[in-house]
Amino acid sequence: MKRPVAFIAGTGRGIPARIMTNHDFAALGLETSHEWIVERTGIVQRHIATDAETTCSMAATAARTAMSRAGVQPGEIDAIILSTATADRLLPSTAVDLQAELGATRAAAFDLSAACSGWIYAMTVAEGLMQSGVIETALVVGSEKMSSIVDWQDRSTCVLFGDGAGAVILKRNEAHSTRGILSAFMRSDGTLAELLWRPSGGAKAPFSQAVLDDRSSYVRMAGRGTFRHAVRSMSEACDRALDGARLRGDDIDILIPHQANVRIIEATAKYANIPMSKVYVNVDRYGNTSSASIPIALDEAIESGRVKGGTTALLVAFGAGFTWGSMVVRF
Ligand SMILES: CC(C)(COP(=O)(O)OP(=O)(O)OC[C@H]1O[C@@H](n2cnc3c(N)ncnc32)[C@H](O)[C@@H]1OP(=O)(O)O)[C@@H](O)C(=O)NCCC(=O)NCCS
Repeated sequence: MKRPVAFIAGTGRGIPARIMTNHDFAALGLETSHEWIVERTGIVQRHIATDAETTCSMAATAARTAMSRAGVQPGEIDAIILSTATADRLLPSTAVDLQAELGATRAAAFDLSAACSGWIYAMTVAEGLMQSGVIETALVVGSEKMSSIVDWQDRSTCVLFGDGAGAVILKRNEAHSTRGILSAFMRSDGTLAELLWRPSGGAKAPFSQAVLDDRSSYVRMAGRGTFRHAVRSMSEACDRALDGARLRGDDIDILIPHQANVRIIEATAKYANIPMSKVYVNVDRYGNTSSASIPIALDEAIESGRVKGGTTALLVAFGAGFTWGSMVVRF
């Protein structure tokens, strides 16, 4: 097992106050039901941002809490890595807006695009920058305004997603510390990109009247195929992170998986031989907040005392790309 180079010094979340329940879809004229959504996904409600709440503003709320808990001032942050699939605009990055908003005067800032796996990817990149000696302190955020890219006329996707942000302050460890990131794993398979994607609205098929008319700039998903790959990939990711840390499922105190669907979570936990009593689930309250889901869940788990000093956590993600990844973290 490698020496943990980086540790989580503080966490926070930024959640829109507005709640949309499953019953609220009736008002949109969608043929769906609370029972269908709960049975297939476990989702009961999701938070939906107002027009005034942006990917940057939710990220800033999460970041300020994480910084205050870590005792870190804006000027001490060396890098801001913001994972998002819903940048506030296309150029420049939302991370630079966050840098300006926080007054993080000496920070490098960039967005990272790996869909729902983005925060695990971003944490791994930040740890690498610490390993190579480039940075000491990073702000790693997942922030997503999924409500801005889902098709509110497509019942098979719009019921699944929600908005929110989660943030951590990651710091370089002092020598001989046993807390921090014990292992990390990342993979992708771009041959499957079209199972979960936004076909248009980028450089290849820029926005046009035709794009707006056929609604091809919104998220499209092949649900069954995505489900199958999610279970397979998250299972592999559990194995790889556990192997990397020289641990077994029994050694894990808490599994914090990406929150897309409770059935995917249950299948992943079963595969990893971790009982559901050790799994953090909040998909019922948030829906799928993409790359924000793991840092939001982690923040809640710390706040409620389920993660504390000495806890060993397995974090595992899967998302569009497909991308997947995992890490074992000791607190
Ligand atoms: C989306 C998902 C819940 C659908 O569940 P499913 O059991 O696979 O259902 P299907 O897609 O086969 O659809 C079954 C039926 O329900 C219908 N349906 C789809 N969405 C519905 C909704 N919101 N309400 C009611 N019916 C719905 C479908 O039209 C289909 O009807 P049909 O049989 O008449 O064609 C499931 O596939 C899933 O969770 N996939 C993974 C999604 C995910 O996690 N994505 C993010 C990964 S990061």
